[in-house]
Amino acid sequence: MAGLIPKTFIDELLTRADIVEVIDARVPLKKAGKDYKACCPFHEEKTPSFTVSPDKQFYHCFGCGAHGTAIGFLMEYEHMGFPEAVEELAGRLGLTVPREGGVAGAAAKEHGGAELLEIMQDAARFYRDQLREPPGRSAVDYLKARGVTGEIAAEFGLGFAPDGWDHLVRALGKDDAARERLAHAGLAVKKEGGGFYDRFRNRVMFPIHDYRGRIVGFGGRVLGKEEPKYLNSPETPLFHKGRELYGLFRAREAIKREGRVLVVEGYMDVVALAQHGVDNAVATLGTATTHDHLERIFRFTQDIVFCFDGDRAGREAAWRALETALPALREGRQVSFLFLPEGEDPDTLVRKEGAEAFRARLRQAAPLPDYLFQTLAGQVDLGRLDGRARLVELARPLLSNVSHGVLRQMLLDRLAELSRVDPGKLAALMSAGGAATENRPGAPGRAGAGPKEPPSMVRLAIAMVLQHPELAAKVTDRSTFVDQELPGMPLFLAVLDLLQGSPGLNTAAVIEHFRGTEHEAPLAKLAVWQHPALAQDVMAEFQGVLGQLHRSAIKMQTERLLHKQRVQGSLTPEEKVELARLLAEKARHQPVSDRD
Ligand code: CTP
Ligand code: MN
Repeated sequence: MAGLIPKTFIDELLTRADIVEVIDARVPLKKAGKDYKACCPFHEEKTPSFTVSPDKQFYHCFGCGAHGTAIGFLMEYEHMGFPEAVEELAGRLGLTVPREGGVAGAAAKEHGGAELLEIMQDAARFYRDQLREPPGRSAVDYLKARGVTGEIAAEFGLGFAPDGWDHLVRALGKDDAARERLAHAGLAVKKEGGGFYDRFRNRVMFPIHDYRGRIVGFGGRVLGKEEPKYLNSPETPLFHKGRELYGLFRAREAIKREGRVLVVEGYMDVVALAQHGVDNAVATLGTATTHDHLERIFRFTQDIVFCFDGDRAGREAAWRALETALPALREGRQVSFLFLPEGEDPDTLVRKEGAEAFRARLRQAAPLPDYLFQTLAGQVDLGRLDGRARLVELARPLLSNVSHGVLRQMLLDRLAELSRVDPGKLAALMSAGGAATENRPGAPGRAGAGPKEPPSMVRLAIAMVLQHPELAAKVTDRSTFVDQELPGMPLFLAVLDLLQGSPGLNTAAVIEHFRGTEHEAPLAKLAVWQHPALAQDVMAEFQGVLGQLHRSAIKMQTERLLHKQRVQGSLTPEEKVELARLLAEKARHQPVSDRD
């Protein structure tokens, strides 16, 4: 779908947007020389190695290798998709993202983003208004019976979907297009034989906001004992259960203030906790906690407490959360687990005991390592040798998911203690099991060694035009240095073509042109490559590099012709002339060993 946004628009966007502004709004930057610095938001560090270059419109972390353009930053930091990041940047500049024609369906779908958001808002208003209508009386009574105050209901925007097949469809589906949009937004269902009906009927409605406060979905609860108890919006272009957390937008200030977040299981838990002043709670949406959930939360705080019911289902959910959390663990990140007495959930408990008692429970939450080893130890007999061996086997796949570092070492030490295996031997055992991951999977924007790295001279030439795009205009006669067979040359030429075709592009815009291609990673590396020839007098250095490429080209062409002569015994008359010309040309230059 990215291809539907014209490249020329991306160029314009990246030359008009300011990456310093974009990042500074999220990660405060300090000026350092001509660049800006901060502690890297993508890994833990105490001294800033995260660098933002306003010239290149590019960021790079010398610690973890994260890098990218303003678009890339939004994708990594805000977990946006490419079109989303482009929309965000464009929105800031007051630009509308144009779409190329062709795949009309997909374009319309993307285009609908703003419209869908509007529908969600309209629907939320409709549901809220219903609470004041006579049919809504039952919902108000229900909420009152559960102890929800009118004030907190208003704060969470709770509403009511009346009983009946088409209240919402009639209110908001003025024409066919509008009804299609309702269906697209997951609020209406299209009937086989035509026509539409309301998805949510006779339910208390919980609007679900994304982290930016936009309504992207709904959860609806029955008033009685019918099934299913909760019905959620289906996956739509706006709504992804595996990414969103109920209550996050409202809770974000409290989470930052308290330095910790509480992850609970239900909508009503979040609402009840908030009503009692525990404002830093969020809920997953009837799904297991995902990696995306964790990364989203870790951007607000390094301290997560999972709160689960004490029953079997709760324990199973907790273990799944632990497994998901292990690869996300790093120094400074804390995950703990709180189990509530059987039959209770945060909603019932906070109403029963009050906020203070609930907070006291929170302080008793078990740190992840304790919970992990307690659970495993409960499955074996530590008094027996084979039981302790089994413990090591159970722990091995789990610990192999924790990236190397102090935390991993501490977990290993604890395992050594419990299993009474010598720590050194244990470490060997663990790595023998393989899968010990040095790098976290899916770490943000890692450069990685590109498959085909051009040799240093061509690499230097590419780095020069990439870091100083104005140099491209100085290349007038390509014939003097172009030898297509020189590795990396096609990329150099592609970059030159781009820059000569659209003068004024900056480093970031060039790199975005190659997004998703094999060149993306090598270019990102070259964009921040520090080479003496890139530091001073780049113009002169560039001429020097072109000269070297020229000699390289002559040498290669000469060698090819000489080789042919050897193998075939003769050359065509044209080839002979060409060889003579090359040899003369070569003689003009002092002998240099210019291939490396
Ligand atoms: N859930 C769901 N679909 C269901 C049941 C539950 O999506 N059929 C999700 C909802 O997000 C719900 C959460 O799982 O908030 C927890 O469900 P459950 O423990 O069954 O309910 P409670 O939150 O305790 O709901 P209530 O207090 O309203 O009975
Ligand atoms: Mn409940």
